[in-house]
Amino acid sequence: MVHLTANIKTVEKYLEARSWLETGEKVTAIEVPGDGNMNFTLRVKTNRRSFIIKQSRDYVEKYPQVEAPITRSLREAKFYELVSGYSSLKKQMPNLLKIDNQNYVLYLEDLGNATDYTFLYKNGQVLNEDELFKIISFAADLHTNLTRENSEINLPNRKMRELNHKHIFIYPFLEENGLDLDAVLPGLQSIAAPYKNNDDLKGKIEKLGERYLQDGNSLLHGDYFPGSWIKTKGGIKIIDPEFCFFGEPEFEIGVTIAHLKMANQPEEIVSKAFRYYTEKALLNKELCQQFTAIEIFRRILGLAQLPLAINLQKRKDLLTQSFEILSTADY
Ligand SMILES: Nc1ncnc2c1ncn2[C@@H]1O[C@H](COP(=O)(O)OP(=O)(O)OP(=O)(O)O)[C@@H](O)[C@H]1O
Ligand SMILES: [Mg+2]
Repeated sequence: MVHLTANIKTVEKYLEARSWLETGEKVTAIEVPGDGNMNFTLRVKTNRRSFIIKQSRDYVEKYPQVEAPITRSLREAKFYELVSGYSSLKKQMPNLLKIDNQNYVLYLEDLGNATDYTFLYKNGQVLNEDELFKIISFAADLHTNLTRENSEINLPNRKMRELNHKHIFIYPFLEENGLDLDAVLPGLQSIAAPYKNNDDLKGKIEKLGERYLQDGNSLLHGDYFPGSWIKTKGGIKIIDPEFCFFGEPEFEIGVTIAHLKMANQPEEIVSKAFRYYTEKALLNKELCQQFTAIEIFRRILGLAQLPLAINLQKRKDLLTQSFEILSTADY
């Protein structure tokens, strides 16, 4: 196994060994292309061009003590492969140019110095309708075109789903999960306490978690939130489908809506997201709202914290609404 490091010579040697450089091509610089936690991602500049390489390891890059499935980059590659048959979807993602199955490395087209949409969490940032339309349409087109009915392919991505399942449905509700919520925002710990002690709520969450783990009919990106949407000169691009699987679209859209809410987007943006989606595809709104609720819980109380700007009261309100939705869910 080659373990890539942020060292020009190591990277050049690796690329040469794979014949991923042209004759006479030299690596001139390497840089971190943007925020990422899970994988080792690097922008490689040569005397001719630039591209991105992304290696998955058997741990989380930012938290090496946390195990993660090493094969995840190959699942990500599979998503690119499936989407490549649909030109309108394909052109909204970078091209996947090469795959190294032995070392779990992807070689991707460089989208340039682009930012992701996590700036939306900042105060006063509002998604424009055209951007929202593109984001929602990509999901709707993905869910309606890439179905198991239409193809023989399966992509369970079981291990990644199990990892995500723990972070969404289990850890946030553990009394002791190693996270000091008051260090995130003073007062958050005491707001969390009643939810962690509510067995009825936990029962509902367990059922919803089982639903996430079941296979469904549509290919989902699996991590469809502002960190996976990139603002480039050529418009919005979608990256990082390492959590992809065939599941229920309500999970995907539920997650997206949760992030619009945590980014404090106007109510109109949220209702337009629903409208744009349902103009193209079917959606069980109740189930979708339940997934929104659980995503809000896990992002406000769980380990995968976001750079949220909303204050304690707003977080409390979102949790109250989410609790209402989950506790009245009809299981
Ligand atoms: N093809 C690309 N072109 C330009 N920049 C990219 C490209 N792919 C990734 N990046 C940048 O690198 C960052 C990390 O990439 P990516 O999200 O794929 O990695 P990750 O380790 O899976 O991250 P996360 O922990 O958020 O899941 C992105 O936020 C983006 O800024
Ligand atoms: Mg990722």
